Amino acid sequence: MNLGFLASGRGSNLQAVIDACKRGRLCATPRVVISNNSASGALEKARQEGIPAYHLSSHTHGEGLDEAILKTLQRHEVELVVLVGYMKKLGPRTLAAYRNRIVNIHPALLPKFGGQGMYGINVHKAVIEAGERESGATIHLVDEEYDHGAILAQTRVPVLPDDTPQTLAQRVLEREHAFLVETLGKIISGEIRLD
Ligand code: GRF
Repeated sequence: MNLGFLASGRGSNLQAVIDACKRGRLCATPRVVISNNSASGALEKARQEGIPAYHLSSHTHGEGLDEAILKTLQRHEVELVVLVGYMKKLGPRTLAAYRNRIVNIHPALLPKFGGQGMYGINVHKAVIEAGERESGATIHLVDEEYDHGAILAQTRVPVLPDDTPQTLAQRVLEREHAFLVETLGKIISGEIRLD
């Protein structure tokens, strides 16, 4: 299956998927990486791996961004879009063309701790402040709202009494890498159905 990625930051989940494809753990080909952030680790990692990498943002494309993203995905024959730390909403054309073919990974147990502003360390701060004993990660379908579409899979990690947002973030992130690869494998094999 041909994969396309959108990412805004570091790109550690992207790297985990690329590595799994290279090792034959995942029967998929990373075809393109798109970022709104020209300085993102994700674009750098893609370039190091020889994967076509594009900086597409409202600054570079204005009103035409949605169309530019869609055309780029289609030109690279992407079949499944994976959001790995993408901080922007997708536009209506991309969402319509890839309906039920876009997944996101979120570092908490949705439907709790999702939505606008719930990204990065904010998520883990909120989990600790709420006194949760468990956190984890969720992979879900993407729709018009942040962190909202149907939940496809979740994984859990404990929240320990002496956790800081940083220690919890680290525990969740380490789990995310294997969880994302495993869940994409299940999507590709049809064990998890997208529609
Ligand atoms: C991950 O925690 C993911 O769940 C969230 O953004 C973060 C991206 O991290 N959506 P990285 O860029 O993959 O290292």
